[in-house]
Amino acid sequence: MITTALTRRFDLSTPVIGAPMAGVAGGALAAAVSRAGGLGMIGVAGNHSPDFITEQCAIPERLPFGVGLMAWVLDDRPELLEATIAARPALVSVSFGDPAPYVGPLHDAGIAVAVQVNTVDDVHRAVASDVDVIVAQGSEAGGHTGHRATLPLLQEVLALTDLPVVAAGGIATGRGMAAVLAAGAAGVWIGTALLSCPEGLNSPAARARVRAAAGEDTVLTRAFDVAQRLAWPERWPGRALENEFSRAWHGREDELAHDDVASQRVVDARRSGDLEQAPVYAGEAVGLVTAERSATDVVRTLTEDAERALRTVPDLLG
Ligand SMILES: Cc1cc2nc3c(=O)[nH]c(=O)nc-3n(C[C@H](O)[C@H](O)[C@H](O)COP(=O)(O)O)c2cc1C
Repeated sequence: MITTALTRRFDLSTPVIGAPMAGVAGGALAAAVSRAGGLGMIGVAGNHSPDFITEQCAIPERLPFGVGLMAWVLDDRPELLEATIAARPALVSVSFGDPAPYVGPLHDAGIAVAVQVNTVDDVHRAVASDVDVIVAQGSEAGGHTGHRATLPLLQEVLALTDLPVVAAGGIATGRGMAAVLAAGAAGVWIGTALLSCPEGLNSPAARARVRAAAGEDTVLTRAFDVAQRLAWPERWPGRALENEFSRAWHGREDELAHDDVASQRVVDARRSGDLEQAPVYAGEAVGLVTAERSATDVVRTLTEDAERALRTVPDLLG
């Protein structure tokens, strides 16, 4: 069994956090991760309602769970924080913006707070905000992320804080998990590895695309946000599978901001499920996801393979 500051703090049997992924990670996916001994999280986006949070957080079997919120969304939608607090998760992440205003209310409710960081300045801000867990999120990650790669960012973050640091971005095998734990991370925060699980809210067609994609097939782009006229701060583009839309518009975002026809195409495609025009967010680890498997299975295999890999590490010392 792998024991870290993270497993002790949240009483887990493996230091694996199922990333909050808006549109994919609802209550069923979170529960499936937690059933394997990790901590499953529910992703909440700007278009979600407080009722969505209440419904998805009705997790069976008294399993621990977390909720992932976005700071830039909360600034205008405080009701999402209220619904989250009322659902009593073990952990809430407040990423993509300043977590400071939200830490106090969450702590007052006895809820631990995590924040994903993408730069050294983010780390200083997170520590000053009194968060409990820091997630070093590299640009390999699926979904919205920064521009620093996981491994150099992780090493810098570990040198800057004694808080538990969790690694996110590009981890989808026991080898990857063992690597970041050996480096000093207290756990892994996995998203892409869970994109082909039947418990997800994503469509079977999106899951099939994930299984067919290679690690080279992603693009870090603002095109989908600009097309949908979303107020995502520019510093966090999104990593998605390349498709017809990204090939046409990535790098032409200024033009896209004034093209209402192209914009409407993405909005319509999201409704109709046209995945050549709508985004399928996924990270560089997508090439490692080749089968449809339960999230419980994914987390169990990840853990067993990491344990096996970690057992070989002392051999390196002769
Ligand atoms: C489809 C998808 C949706 C995501 N949505 C969110 C989200 O709503 N909130 C959040 O904090 N992070 C979100 N992320 C980022 C994840 O929390 C995490 O950082 C990332 O998945 C880790 O890297 P990996 O995908 O390589 O495992 C999302 C990622 C993906 C793939």
